[in-house]
Amino acid sequence: MSARPELIGRAAGILRSGGLVAFPTETVYGLGADATNPEAVRRIFAAKGRPPTNPLIAHVADIETAKRYAAEWSDAAQTLAAVWWPGPLTLVVRKAAAIVAEVTAGRDTVGLRVPNHPVALELLRAFGGAVAAPSANRSNRVSPTTAEHVLQELAGSVELILDGGPCSVGIESTVLDLTADVPTILRPGGVSRGQLEAILGRVNERGGVASATTAASSPGQHPVHYAPTTPAFRFETWQRGLVRSETEGRPNGMLVLSQLNEFDRYGPIIAMPNDPPQYQRRLYAALRELDGTGLRAIYIEVPPYRPEWAAVRDRIVRATRPLPTS
Ligand code: TXA
Ligand code: MG
Repeated sequence: MSARPELIGRAAGILRSGGLVAFPTETVYGLGADATNPEAVRRIFAAKGRPPTNPLIAHVADIETAKRYAAEWSDAAQTLAAVWWPGPLTLVVRKAAAIVAEVTAGRDTVGLRVPNHPVALELLRAFGGAVAAPSANRSNRVSPTTAEHVLQELAGSVELILDGGPCSVGIESTVLDLTADVPTILRPGGVSRGQLEAILGRVNERGGVASATTAASSPGQHPVHYAPTTPAFRFETWQRGLVRSETEGRPNGMLVLSQLNEFDRYGPIIAMPNDPPQYQRRLYAALRELDGTGLRAIYIEVPPYRPEWAAVRDRIVRATRPLPTS
């Protein structure tokens, strides 16, 4: 799907004059501003209610443009970008001076990404520079995967929302820090550790979700993140006997992978696809469907402990608490 040229021209004009534009990417919708304009970038933080200590990803149209915003461009960065861009991989590299401190929360590094969506690429080409864009949701809420979700989150605080249909990947990009001694995954996502190791050899991963007391080097690691407003719990498949579709007469919602007939059916049950890419594509919309419908709680079945489910498990862990055992 591509957008009408006059709409892209208008969107690029809004970015140039310091405004905010929401746009589709293959992962989730982004809330964009000119990454070289401090006031514009501050408006993103205000619209989201995001703490200014959490850095933003800068989106560009291609590798050549990325290099303009990086102080160093290593062979590893070049190889990864050549293989994965446009695509769901964010590379953290030393930043060039043009990227303002508001984007990077004062760090001397910047996360750069070329998104794989025709509307995003048209916008980035028309704009010509770097567009700082976090996911287009209120801080700590579920990321939007349709233009309608963006409207629900940010109506009134964004000048224009470009509609590019539902996102095909559905969860955020993999964030890879290339400034560490060993390249380190700060956030799992659309590109897996195995896929990165195939190119780089050794790759480290920040151990799971950071604890509430540990300073996270990528603030996406704070434990409760991407959360629905309804209390949400995760359960292992073997715990399904403990999960009820109602509590004290109020329905509970469920996202399940195993056979439906093993549950009583009082509350809404969403059967999730047993395939990581399809599950990812569906996850945030499913959470939104269940959220805000007066449910007592949402219960999510944890997918198998296999590498291909790592990014999905990460998002579920951040969105939920473990099942209370008492
Ligand atoms: O798929 C995505 O990455 C989406 C789309 C819109 O591109 N964007 C997104 O942005 O998820 P946001 O702001 O919600 O998440 C950015 C993540 C955060 O975990 C942030 O801490 C990390 O990237 N990050 C950004 N710049 C960083 C830097 N310089 N150093 C370490 N982590 C960084
Ligand atoms: Mg986000």
